[in-house]
Amino acid sequence: MTLLRVSGLSVDTEGLPVLRGVDFEVSAGERVGLIGESGSGKTVAALTLMGLQPEGFAVQGSVEFEGRQLVGLSDREFSAIRGARMAMVFQEPMTALDPLMRVGQQIIDAVRAHRRVSSSESRRRMLELMARVGFPSPEEQSRRFPHQLSGGQRQRVVIAIALACDPALILADEPTTALDVTVQAQVLALLQRLVAEEGSALLLISHDLAVVSSVCQRVLVMYGGTLVEAATTDEILKAPRHPYTAALLQTSAGIGARSRLAAGRLPTIPGSVPSLGGFPEGCVFRGRCPREQARCREVPPLVGDGHRFACWFPLEPGAAPIAGTFVGR
Ligand SMILES: Nc1ncnc2c1ncn2[C@@H]1O[C@H](COP(=O)(O)OP(=O)(O)O)[C@@H](O)[C@H]1O
Ligand code: SF4
Ligand SMILES: [Mg+2]
Repeated sequence: MTLLRVSGLSVDTEGLPVLRGVDFEVSAGERVGLIGESGSGKTVAALTLMGLQPEGFAVQGSVEFEGRQLVGLSDREFSAIRGARMAMVFQEPMTALDPLMRVGQQIIDAVRAHRRVSSSESRRRMLELMARVGFPSPEEQSRRFPHQLSGGQRQRVVIAIALACDPALILADEPTTALDVTVQAQVLALLQRLVAEEGSALLLISHDLAVVSSVCQRVLVMYGGTLVEAATTDEILKAPRHPYTAALLQTSAGIGARSRLAAGRLPTIPGSVPSLGGFPEGCVFRGRCPREQARCREVPPLVGDGHRFACWFPLEPGAAPIAGTFVGR
């Protein structure tokens, strides 16, 4: 069952495109990853889905969530959905937490925000959530303030708040990027286990393909505010068709790049992500792409059934993804 259907979603600011006609769907209970280098438009996409796009950003297109059109809803209408049916976990847990309030109370407030429950019931639910996100002594730890917890523990509290109302969809934007590597793996595993237990869908956003591929069943690849490839995780890892995806694979420290790092060669994608308004006409990856030809001055459509990609000269299906073009800088 389709939970979220995004079609032709475009966002502009001062006449400059931030998102350019993004199309994708998320089914109920599905775990979908959204990847791309920093500056590709991932956070703006997530914020726009929740009606939280920055001031002055104009939104066009359609976001249907549980059969309801979200584009154009008022703030009040959106706030009935946010936190209740759709919850968000950000990179920096302190932005989501009140530094002056005990964490247990913040979870209780989230439980009561969208539901009428007694105070004893909301307290019971808070302690249960704290235990589920991995606090061994919830009674004692619920009385702490955010600054008395580690970064990983704070992100666990944010996840408990996100789960408080059994959301149908959790948007997690770089949820582990600010954490130590060992804690990252634990928090990711927790998030994956909890969404599976709750039956919630997850849209996991990261610049790191290794993070997304360890958790998600399907991957969306974004560059220049447009989706350049969308496929199952397996297809993305084993048979990417878009040169940008192949480049991300090569440069992902957790996947292709480790052996080359060991060999003393640091793989990078040539050039850097342009700032807003700096992307070329036609294919947004022009100028950085080793397969570019004259036709790339036209915008390539996102084509394909199931496995979709937007490129005039895609990699052959099944061609070795790590073809060496980007290595050795
Ligand atoms: N509040 C904002 N005001 C102006 N430009 C912004 C704002 N937020 C993001 N942008 C721009 O939009 C583009 C996409 O940013 P973002 O969605 O944050 O990328 P990502 O999350 O993929 O790193 C970037 O060029 C960024 O500079
Ligand atoms: S359309 Fe052309 S420039 Fe764009 S990714 Fe494909 S080959 Fe490269
Ligand atoms: Mg971001």
